[in-house]
Amino acid sequence: MNNDNLIVQTPAPLGRIDLGMGNPDFNLLPADSLRRASERAFAKGINASLQYGATQGNGYFRESMADLLTQSFGENVDASSLFISSGVSSALDLLAGLLTRPGDTIFVENPTYFLAPSIFADHGLQIISIPVDNEGLDIDALEEKLAVHHPKFLYSIPTFQNPSGHTLSLERREKLIELAEKHDFIIIADEVYHLLPYTRKPPKPFALFTKDSEKVISVNSFSKILAPGLRLGWIHAHQKIIHKLNSCGLIDSGGGMNPFTSAIVHELVETGDLGKNIALLKETYASRLKVMDKALQDFLPSAEYTLPQGGFFFWVRIPGQDTATLRKNAKDFKVDFRQGTLFSAEKGMQEYMRLCFAFYDEAKIKKGVHRLAKYIRS
Ligand SMILES: Cc1ncc(COP(=O)(O)O)c(C=O)c1O
Repeated sequence: MNNDNLIVQTPAPLGRIDLGMGNPDFNLLPADSLRRASERAFAKGINASLQYGATQGNGYFRESMADLLTQSFGENVDASSLFISSGVSSALDLLAGLLTRPGDTIFVENPTYFLAPSIFADHGLQIISIPVDNEGLDIDALEEKLAVHHPKFLYSIPTFQNPSGHTLSLERREKLIELAEKHDFIIIADEVYHLLPYTRKPPKPFALFTKDSEKVISVNSFSKILAPGLRLGWIHAHQKIIHKLNSCGLIDSGGGMNPFTSAIVHELVETGDLGKNIALLKETYASRLKVMDKALQDFLPSAEYTLPQGGFFFWVRIPGQDTATLRKNAKDFKVDFRQGTLFSAEKGMQEYMRLCFAFYDEAKIKKGVHRLAKYIRS
């Protein structure tokens, strides 16, 4: 029997229900379809994918991804606008390296995905936060900051945001692109949750704005729709940006990213197994979302939140509580969450906590929220 502690980055502690985890459920990782896809890839001959890969990524794989995205978005996606990456984290690192120099200013949302700022800090960047409200990034607050600062880029999670769950309205998307053109900054849109809507279709993705605008770059990943261990994703961008990526030093030396994994995932796309996996995840997560909502209403009526429409997270406000202090003793009740301050570059959001409804099954979600409520009441 394998010891998961030696394999997994953040193992779930034994007996504890960690509602703060942002990972997919172990039981939903598609080992069987990946085995079938690998067998197909090997049967066809995999040697070309064991060689240094084409700079932009396997062209057949990009074609099949372009077809899948065309179907999902309802608008044509061209394979030439896709660049295969090793996931969003490495794409952010690559783009920060290409678009900035140490000391440059960039904007992030408040709250934001808590691990992104440390990628930007690795590049010596000055990070400024822009608030998010129920409709996503606050455009008026952004305009005020733009009067004072000149960011190289804005990092935004426009759809089913991690952690707030909020989605940027179409009107704000269009206004944001106008501002990027006017003030000469790039929007890096992290669209990892766009393909996971449960109750309402999100507005047009930023990916579809990249054809006409060099100011928009969409980064995406197989981590949430397939498996994070694949370390595979894609960047969707204007031809000028794709050209920049193709000719950068990292790619020039190492070749395209993850050609071997791409060949296997390509088979999964071709057989329709990726589409089926996304459908299964949507059905499962939609149901888990309802269970978490009901458990919060039943056990923790003081919790304030907007019901998420997709993605992985509830962003819950517990009025009058400092969730960082609260978290310290949560272990005694065999439960955990992530405190709001983690997601704020300015260490705000003290009364908030992030809860994930994707990692555990329905019974565990209910039990976890029950334990959390018991602890908070104590
Ligand atoms: C908003 C967001 N971006 C990026 C990532 C990480 O993506 P990847 O695994 O592709 O590096 C996560 C994972 O939690 C996320 O929530």
